[in-house]
Amino acid sequence: LASDHVRIVEVGPRDGLQNEKKSISMETKLELIQRLAKTGVTTIEAGSFVPAKWVPQVCIVANQLYIALQPILTQWLLQMASTSEICEHLLTSPPQSHDTIAYNYLVPNIRGLENLVKIMDAKGASAEKPARTLEVSLFAAATEAFSKANTNCTIAESLERIKPIVSLAKSKNIRVRGYVSVALGCPYEGPEVDPTKVADITATLLEMGADEVSVADTTGMGTAPRTNELLKALKAAGIASTDLALHFHDTYGQALVNTIVGLEHGIRIFDSSVGGLGGCPYSKGATGNVSTEDLVHTLHSLGMHTGVSLDEMSRIGAWISAELGRSNDSRAGKATNAR
Ligand code: HMG
Ligand code: MG
Repeated sequence: LASDHVRIVEVGPRDGLQNEKKSISMETKLELIQRLAKTGVTTIEAGSFVPAKWVPQVCIVANQLYIALQPILTQWLLQMASTSEICEHLLTSPPQSHDTIAYNYLVPNIRGLENLVKIMDAKGASAEKPARTLEVSLFAAATEAFSKANTNCTIAESLERIKPIVSLAKSKNIRVRGYVSVALGCPYEGPEVDPTKVADITATLLEMGADEVSVADTTGMGTAPRTNELLKALKAAGIASTDLALHFHDTYGQALVNTIVGLEHGIRIFDSSVGGLGGCPYSKGATGNVSTEDLVHTLHSLGMHTGVSLDEMSRIGAWISAELGRSNDSRAGKATNAR
């Protein structure tokens, strides 16, 4: 990638919608993906192969927390229920010019990837045509408490779980993206997450064969100085900036500042969600991912190229926010639409 080119990973249909209160139909979700595919983004997270009835163990233990979170978590899983249909549709009837777009699916375990592979095999996607437009995301966490809450296992166990997923994905020509959650703050352990721990997990994911690792500020607690420290620790561990992406949630409004810190460290892949969709089931008051419109506006103002149309993206942000009955959380999107 040229140093002034940034690749944006649009996570709205997965990370955004998984945390929205109001569920939308499969058709609307598909329309969202199809519209996004015409904006110039080249990677779209299209869904998540998670179990239909999973409830985090930590929540069962902490009964009160469980009661408080249950409606949100149930919603979260319902939002992802249509992933198989979406995947089938995108494999069989990809909209024009979709060759250049990678569709990404989150898989929490080998079972999730096997379900994706079943669809690929049924649709002949793995036979003569390599599935170059398919990508999966695997996730580990930087703190034990979050690992337990999100994946019901320790960090070490989650890394063991990831190994066979990477092997199967590689054998099917599927690109692999890793996530390291709570890299800049944990809802259970606080903001001081050890940067060397994040670096160790990132390095392990890359050694296992991940094509890139997205370092995630799940709670939005990250600040510019701590983002700087984290990126220094990643570099000190020998991790190339080209192997990294940054994934900011914008709870404290720091995502764009932290993005600039990332740019200064040579990062050129950033995750965002149209309209700033989403939230976080673990943190009260948490907002979604940084909005794609705000990210695009900032990057363009810095002379960076994204290939993404701010006008198109802004129209989608307004449309999907209205569909969800929520406010449009993108300031650049609202301003662009008002022009
Ligand atoms: P577990 O309860 O230990 O799993 O959860 P299990 O293996 O014991 O299985 C429980 C049941 O689910 C069984 O069914 C399995 O067959 C079934 P039962 O026998 O009870 O009827 N099952 C499945 N069904 C369909 N698809 C599957 C699957 N796997 C098991 N893939 C597990 C372990 C990992 C499954 C669970 O913890 C889980 O699903 N975690 C994912 C939670 C999640 O989706 N989190 C949100 C995504 S991560 C995120 O948003 C962060 C990110 O945005 C970056 C950031 O901001 O930090 C990426
Ligand atoms: Mg996220």
